[in-house]
Amino acid sequence: MTRKRALGVAVVGAGYWGPNLIRNFASSGDWALRAVCDLDLDRARAAVAGRGEVAVVTDLEEVLSRTDVDAVAIATPARTHRAIAERALAAGKHVLVEKPLADTPAAGAAMVRLAAERGLVLMADHTYCYTPAVLKIRELVASGALGKVLFVDSVRINLGLVQPDVDVFWDLAPHDLSILDFVLPGGLRPEGVAAQGADPIGAGKDCVGYLSLPLGDGVMAHVHVNWLSPTKIRQMVIGGSERTLVWDDLNPQQRLSVYDRGVDLTQQAVDSIDRAGATVSYRLGDTWAPALPEREALASMVAEFAGSIRERRAPLTDGEAGLRVLGVLRACDRSRAAGGTLVSVAAPDPAPLEEVGA
Ligand SMILES: NC(=O)c1ccc[n+]([C@@H]2O[C@H](COP(=O)([O-])OP(=O)(O)OC[C@H]3O[C@@H](n4cnc5c(N)ncnc54)[C@H](O)[C@@H]3O)[C@@H](O)[C@H]2O)c1
Repeated sequence: MTRKRALGVAVVGAGYWGPNLIRNFASSGDWALRAVCDLDLDRARAAVAGRGEVAVVTDLEEVLSRTDVDAVAIATPARTHRAIAERALAAGKHVLVEKPLADTPAAGAAMVRLAAERGLVLMADHTYCYTPAVLKIRELVASGALGKVLFVDSVRINLGLVQPDVDVFWDLAPHDLSILDFVLPGGLRPEGVAAQGADPIGAGKDCVGYLSLPLGDGVMAHVHVNWLSPTKIRQMVIGGSERTLVWDDLNPQQRLSVYDRGVDLTQQAVDSIDRAGATVSYRLGDTWAPALPEREALASMVAEFAGSIRERRAPLTDGEAGLRVLGVLRACDRSRAAGGTLVSVAAPDPAPLEEVGA
């Protein structure tokens, strides 16, 4: 068997998150880390410490002109994603972008369009989607083990840093939304978005947020994000017609529990003139915990990025997934401005990713 050539990658942005990408690209057999670029040279130097073969630069052009760089991974603030991604795509590089894909749906759509025109991969790092737990949830939903999804309730609350540039929706909800997009068959396509937010400490932005997403056919998803909770909760409940799944990300002994319990509603005639009534019965079956492999999400994520480039296919979390998340976040802003009423999500209209070149 011939060994696959490692793809060359450069990481742009070596602040808080960039070093995690650097570590995972550097330890992946799929990738050869060629360069790290940051406007702050000392930060870039610190992030590559001990890896003498990796170039450290401040100028993006130095990265883009290298023929041994096949792909660029962007871990800079969201408002800079579009400009960097467009320059990288124009230089013929595949692009991985940290969440959120961009700061506006229009910027994200432009990136998706350019990648499609150039036949290059554009991937969003929706990191949670590559955790063993979320990969298993996706598998369980797709296999029909839960039956029809009836409701989703997601809670992501803790004592968080009040971010200077974004509210709690834009800071935390991208995680929940990208997970919903990943596990719901057909992706996250809500009928509308209703967002209620609160700023009880006078921070000048929402610190507490509640997001309701009707998914059609009476199905509802709800997301609670909060920077002010003294207790940290990372929990998602996916109720199904057959089984209900509970994901408690802070319980390493049993992150996933599947409950073979639920409510059955049977319509039946209740009297002689055929008036219909509903009989409610409860199923009280077993609870089981799916086994999960131990693997760092970012290791799976960088492997998927390489796989999508080599196999000339869209990655699991492609630019369009990033756009769907952005569309909901923007609708969330509009709903907040409209007093929390249900607003529609303007349909993103990106060109499809048809073919990508290695
Ligand atoms: N996937 C996750 O779970 C996760 C977690 C945290 C952050 N993020 C995302 O990662 C991105 C970066 O966040 P962060 O917290 O690391 O930010 P940060 O501010 O800590 O770091 C950003 C770095 O980018 C550099 N930079 C800015 N503009 C640049 C440019 N034009 N060229 C080169 N370097 C530039 C800055 O000097 C800084 O070192 C954001 O999109 C954020 O949402 C993702």
